Amino acid sequence: MIYMSVTIGTPLQASAFKVLLLGSGELGKEVVISLQRLGVEVHAADRYDHAPAMQVAHYSYTLNMADAEELKQLIQHVKPDLIIPEIEAIATQVLVEIEQQNIATVIPSAKAVNLTMNREGIRRLAAEELGLPTSAYRFADSIESFRAACDDIGYPNFVKPVMSSSGKGQSRVKSFDEVDAAWEYAQTGGRVNQGKVIVESQIDFDFEITLLTVRAKNAETGEIETQYCDPIGHRQDSGDYVESWQPQAMTHTALEESKRIAHKVTAALGGCGIFGVELFVKGDKVWFSEVSPRPHDTGLVTLASQFQSEFELHARAILGLPVNTTRHSVAASAVIYAGVDDTNLSFSGLNLALSNPNTDLRLFGKPEGFKRRRMGVATARAETTDQARELALETASQVSVQQN
Ligand SMILES: Nc1ncnc2c1ncn2[C@@H]1O[C@H](COP(=O)(O)OP(=O)(O)OP(=O)(O)O)[C@@H](O)[C@H]1O
Ligand SMILES: [Mg+2]
Repeated sequence: MIYMSVTIGTPLQASAFKVLLLGSGELGKEVVISLQRLGVEVHAADRYDHAPAMQVAHYSYTLNMADAEELKQLIQHVKPDLIIPEIEAIATQVLVEIEQQNIATVIPSAKAVNLTMNREGIRRLAAEELGLPTSAYRFADSIESFRAACDDIGYPNFVKPVMSSSGKGQSRVKSFDEVDAAWEYAQTGGRVNQGKVIVESQIDFDFEITLLTVRAKNAETGEIETQYCDPIGHRQDSGDYVESWQPQAMTHTALEESKRIAHKVTAALGGCGIFGVELFVKGDKVWFSEVSPRPHDTGLVTLASQFQSEFELHARAILGLPVNTTRHSVAASAVIYAGVDDTNLSFSGLNLALSNPNTDLRLFGKPEGFKRRRMGVATARAETTDQARELALETASQVSVQQN
């Protein structure tokens, strides 16, 4: 007998199956499109109006999601079946209560969201509870303990506010001379002024990957199974991804070890959905770095390389539906930045960028650009990853951003 999964009603009517997205960026936008295609009613929230995912949702809300009261009121108003946190700056304690009281299902689980919003939670889980290989690390919450931590770990090391993402407040400290400046920078770059930082030893890796790992229900038994996309290689600049490609070539041993690590950490976090497991690789050796309990920016490449992109995989998995992680092409992605601080921007050169039949674009529709704000992405398919990277970078460069 086949097990009975979710029933999806009609959007905007009493039977609607409702999803509330907390954070409405470009990754959320693609998740919303995938959910819309399955007839889900989508509510999107963010701290500013007209965020990318809001533009494709049925309803949108602008609020401070880090404020527990505001967040609770929104959830009471929407009464969602699922809550999908798409960013880390959320009052996660509210989500823990919502899950405990069975008011809605938190994707992938309140535990996962709560642990990964803070580098300390996920690092201690991975290294101390699960025994996974990571860089050496110390935590510090004062300048004195920070100086000691840096000396303990040695140089060069990486310093990151425990509550931050996309490289904010992060620095690579090459010697004791740079320690005080790194502390100052971390204090201003964190998400909330929590003060605490992690100091990590530098891993001398050959390359780094994102192993997209999906926890989805088996169509017949309803048991949660773990599946993996092919590894995604990527290049980071100042802690932010600039290009990615799939597949990243690696040894059989390193791939098996990557899957072992990804399986362990995602099983501990629980729930259904996609996870971006970030790993450092040197030969056959693999280190766990961090994990996103949601689609990963480097996984934008799957829009061009897989039958089901990471966004479709996520939408299906969270609805309890079966997934297919098969890749059909070699592909790459390259980021398009605003290059200026302004609103009301225009994008041209699109005809040239799309003249090659193996290229594609996403323009996110963000209402405001900053120099280093990601406004779009180019994807390209080719015979080899090197060719795909070259084509994706060329495509991205053909899009020019203009002020009006
Ligand atoms: N211990 C380390 N050893 C070597 N390189 C590192 C280390 N920590 C971070 N890096 C480099 O810095 C990048 C960003 O680090 P990390 O992923 O921890 O930051 P982040 O702010 O969470 O970034 P994002 O949100 O974009 O994933 C890594 O992808 C890697 O290139
Ligand atoms: Mg990262």
